[in-house]
Amino acid sequence: MKDFKDKVLFVTGGGSGAGFGQAKLFSEAGCKVVIADVRQDHLDQAVKYLKDKGAPVHGIKLDITDRAAYAAAADEVEAVFGTPPQLLFNTAGVNTFGPAEASTYEDYDWVMGVCLDGVINGMVTFVPRMIKAGLGGYIVTTASMGGFWGGPITAPYSAAKAAVINLMESYRASLGKYGIGVSVLCPASINSNIHNAGETRPAHLQKTGYLMDQGAIDSLEFIYKSGLDPVDLAKWLKKGIEEEQLYIIPYPEEKAALEAHFKLIVDSVLPVEADPVNTQRRVDAWKAMMEMAKEAATDPAKAKTGFGRANPELDWVKPAVPRPAVPPTD
Ligand SMILES: NC(=O)c1ccc[n+]([C@@H]2O[C@H](COP(=O)([O-])OP(=O)(O)OC[C@H]3O[C@@H](n4cnc5c(N)ncnc54)[C@H](O)[C@@H]3O)[C@@H](O)[C@H]2O)c1
Repeated sequence: MKDFKDKVLFVTGGGSGAGFGQAKLFSEAGCKVVIADVRQDHLDQAVKYLKDKGAPVHGIKLDITDRAAYAAAADEVEAVFGTPPQLLFNTAGVNTFGPAEASTYEDYDWVMGVCLDGVINGMVTFVPRMIKAGLGGYIVTTASMGGFWGGPITAPYSAAKAAVINLMESYRASLGKYGIGVSVLCPASINSNIHNAGETRPAHLQKTGYLMDQGAIDSLEFIYKSGLDPVDLAKWLKKGIEEEQLYIIPYPEEKAALEAHFKLIVDSVLPVEADPVNTQRRVDAWKAMMEMAKEAATDPAKAKTGFGRANPELDWVKPAVPRPAVPPTD
């Protein structure tokens, strides 16, 4: 997508940090912006900022983990701007860090609830509406470099971010046929307010295994202060959307670590020579399955397999044309 004029943008976490940077930049590019945020103070200051500029903006107080509220927010967008969004930015996120072995269910439920379930809620709420509107569009989820690898103190956060990277790969492979592009933004650090994320942690999920005292918050703030400016990050995001990049990673210092990580994975694969007969049998079966599924997609009436098809009651879903498990770059 290259033309953002009059596009409706729905950005979660748009009241602060990366999301606010996206709201500012894409508003300047001509979007009508809907800012959704769980914090009223963040929401108010962000909406006021854009209103003062005379830009079309609408604020919705939304906890993205609340599915009923999410559906109501989607109805509100259509009531206010007349269409579902053409641009959906799943940007809201929270973090908290401590040893994996100290993690409580509440640490997982809070972080994965916002960072993974919140994104799923955005996709399940908006994707059908976007497809039915037939206007095409673009979806970006903000993951994190932390989603490419686990670490000793990042278990819930890395797991959630890994999942949303993977989720965007799946949706990208699926939504292209509707003219809807998908990217995943993977920042290292951002100069944001995420060190204060604990302030939105719900009362019933307070039990934590991590030490989150003022010292911990101060050191996180110190790290984030040197992070990328949210508007600069949004500029890289816009470029990534214009170039339809799947992964948007405007952090050159991460390249060597990514290369080392993925080399380790690739080097762990058994070479064909070690087991050629079984390998060939599996490859042949996979190819046959792909052919059957491709036939099913192009002529559903003659389908020999039900594998991977939508419930026929959903009349807005086009059949998926499967393909081998290669990096989803198209
Ligand atoms: N700050 C970093 O260094 C960094 C690095 C990598 C990835 N990220 C990711 O960037 C995204 C944006 O974070 P940020 O750093 O700008 O933080 P931020 O705290 O400045 O902004 C996040 C916004 O999301 C809102 N939010 C939190 N929970 C919500 C919920 N349940 N429903 C709706 N809104 C909610 C917050 O109120 C806040 O306004 C997050 O997904 C985060 O994981 C941040």
